[in-house]
Amino acid sequence: MFKRLPDDRADPVEIEFEGECLQARAGDTVAAAVLAASPGHTRTTPVSGAPRLPYCLMGTCFECLMEIDGVPNRQACLTVVQAGMRVRRQHGKRAVDA
Ligand code: FES
Repeated sequence: MFKRLPDDRADPVEIEFEGECLQARAGDTVAAAVLAASPGHTRTTPVSGAPRLPYCLMGTCFECLMEIDGVPNRQACLTVVQAGMRVRRQHGKRAVDA
């Protein structure tokens, strides 16, 4: 769906997405890296379980909520990739500790 512009200057960064290695570029947001790799949806809705993808990419719509390094409800479009980052889809709403 998305194609990257050629950029030989960007350093490659490896992150883990759903247990698989995903190649990103330094400076990518998590949302951009996931969209560029096209591995499918990034979260499911709490009510129907419908798959969703990042939409606005500027912190407004909250369609990009993901679990990043074990922390749920993080906006992937506002989070820059770091080597070794562990990213998972968010299924429904996050659990709230009692
Ligand atoms: S894509 Fe809209 S808030 Fe992240």
